[in-house]
Amino acid sequence: MDLTPEEEAWLNGAGGPALKRAMEIVVALGRIYGAKRLIPIASVQIAGVSYRNIGAAGLRFLQRWAAEGAQVRVPTTLNPAAMDLKGWRQLGFTPEFAARQQQVIEAFAAMGVGQGRPLPTCTPYLVGNVPEPGDSVAWAESSAVAYANSVLAARTNREGGPGALAAALTGRTAAYGMHLDENRQATLRVEVRVPLPTVADFSALGALVGQVAGNRIPYFYGLPVAFGELLWREKLKALGAALAATGAVALYHVDGVTPEAIMQPMLAPEHERLVVDDLTPAYTAFNTARDSVDLVWMGCPHASLAEIREVATWLTGRRVRVPLWITCARPVRDEATRLGLTTRLEAAGVRLVADACVAIAPVHDLGVRAVATSSAKGAYYLANLASIPVHFGSLERCVRAALTGHWES
Ligand code: F3S
Repeated sequence: MDLTPEEEAWLNGAGGPALKRAMEIVVALGRIYGAKRLIPIASVQIAGVSYRNIGAAGLRFLQRWAAEGAQVRVPTTLNPAAMDLKGWRQLGFTPEFAARQQQVIEAFAAMGVGQGRPLPTCTPYLVGNVPEPGDSVAWAESSAVAYANSVLAARTNREGGPGALAAALTGRTAAYGMHLDENRQATLRVEVRVPLPTVADFSALGALVGQVAGNRIPYFYGLPVAFGELLWREKLKALGAALAATGAVALYHVDGVTPEAIMQPMLAPEHERLVVDDLTPAYTAFNTARDSVDLVWMGCPHASLAEIREVATWLTGRRVRVPLWITCARPVRDEATRLGLTTRLEAAGVRLVADACVAIAPVHDLGVRAVATSSAKGAYYLANLASIPVHFGSLERCVRAALTGHWES
């Protein structure tokens, strides 16, 4: 692999042990994937933040880097934690767990993540980490990777936790995969012949196509979404998250909508064809719970202001019977508060949970036995990673479940 003199020097330890180790990881990944060189990156998004997932060993790993003086070289954001970093007590987390989770965040802060004030979220593009079209970045959260590549036309592979951290510390990633023009053409033509009136329907479609696509790039025809219409970004956010959850999709194109598909032909001459004319299999697969619900979860991926406003509108003058959590980035929560939405939602019994992801939180320990969600990705992760029975349906159905405590079949 060709390295610049500066990269060679870092690899040989000129920048200290932390930078040397980070370079070793970036170069090793490049060699594994046959990269010929490293490229500078515009930003990083790191995964591996939940203490429930990384445990004591992961925390020690991070603290060691921080103690060695490791510092990020490019703007870097963090994936969600296991809890709201401020409101954990009201949500029922124990002080012991909260202390460990805070130590993880402190280790990242010591390395300069978020300029020392990390704001954990899986939607970094909603809180200022917005690469320009054509920028190479190194993002780890799979739903954000799909959004960055597809909607923003940036370039990123699906980084692992240590790989993304190493990229942040070096400001480099290896030039392979999604960073190269020749790997961005679609090989799966998807014809959508079913109406998708809700955001959850886009999520269901993503779940179905992801299962078929694996790590291929789908090209959607007939997707009922138009650039700039109400909730168009949220629909694509939901689509990409589900594609990346049930498959390993890092990039998709939408005919006439996503930037690269507008600019040039992005469907390879040799491709397979898939017709989707029924979403029922997705809704069936992700409805595994009995009729009762003890937590309703929205905001997977983290909710935008528009999504929060929608829930507030549905709940005006009503009060939920079972907890309804909306997960979002802290700056989005702050903006919702400024606009009076947090007060309205709290009056309805809803919690706007910042920083966190329910799928990686110890919700079992909080007594939750069945979750309803409007996200196929959320349902997929809860069912498969946390072994929690789920219901998956539109925002309207989820709101009804929160009001009644039951899932209407
Ligand atoms: Fe985000 Fe967690 Fe969903 S990381 S995309 S809220 S599973």
